[in-house]
Amino acid sequence: MNKAKKYPYMVDSHAHLDFSNFDRDREEVLQRAEDQGLKLIVNVGFDLLSSKESVMLAGQHPFVYAAVGIHPHDAAKAPSNYLRELEEIAHYPKVVALGEMGLDFYRDRSPRPVQRDVFRRQLRLAKKVNLPVIIHDRDAHEEVLKILEEEGLPAPGGVMHCFSGELELARKFLKLGLYISIAGPVTYSRNNKLSEVAAAVPLERLLIETDAPFLTPGPLRGKRNEPAYVVFVAEKVAALRGISVESLGRNCLENARRLFSIE
Ligand code: NI
Repeated sequence: MNKAKKYPYMVDSHAHLDFSNFDRDREEVLQRAEDQGLKLIVNVGFDLLSSKESVMLAGQHPFVYAAVGIHPHDAAKAPSNYLRELEEIAHYPKVVALGEMGLDFYRDRSPRPVQRDVFRRQLRLAKKVNLPVIIHDRDAHEEVLKILEEEGLPAPGGVMHCFSGELELARKFLKLGLYISIAGPVTYSRNNKLSEVAAAVPLERLLIETDAPFLTPGPLRGKRNEPAYVVFVAEKVAALRGISVESLGRNCLENARRLFSIE
């Protein structure tokens, strides 16, 4: 794989390997991730079917774990019994979080009142099943913050996935106890806001991710993203913080294991 180095400890806290564009070479993609030093991938569901597929994938690969949830894009399509179904899936082996869930006012693929409702109900379910949450927030910063403040977080906490706001906003989410996860956009030139956040988040609250197949890091932009490419995110974030990639990778892996209660 291009010029990426292999590291002893690496993690992808958010990927979607159940997507059909991995159907041809999913095993090779996972092998490349392992070769690159990844010790943990959290595969994140976006609807009931993909949540079940995430659980199956986790069952087949020791270093893959699953999150189950309804993405705001898919909120309007969720069947009426989705909460009961989610609760059942949440108890399957290797399910470590509820998500992704949240608000997306950029694409608005589901009506906003439905997005809000499905988000709130999943937060309540997370408290009931005592799992951390994986939050999607696109162009909905203030409302996501408000809903999280009103509903409260489950005891195990959660993560703002693919964080895209400013440092001031990151501080508010940190104050709630959330982790901040940095994805490929930090490698795009001129992303100064995100660089500032990636440099300032306390090391013990920082995560890295690919959001594969989306958001391919700079060097490979235009290609399909995959977990092995998380090293490009790690290299950029480590450089911004003036620490070694090895220690950044190890810290983010430890953080992910702590947040998701993985031994
Ligand atoms: Ni995602």
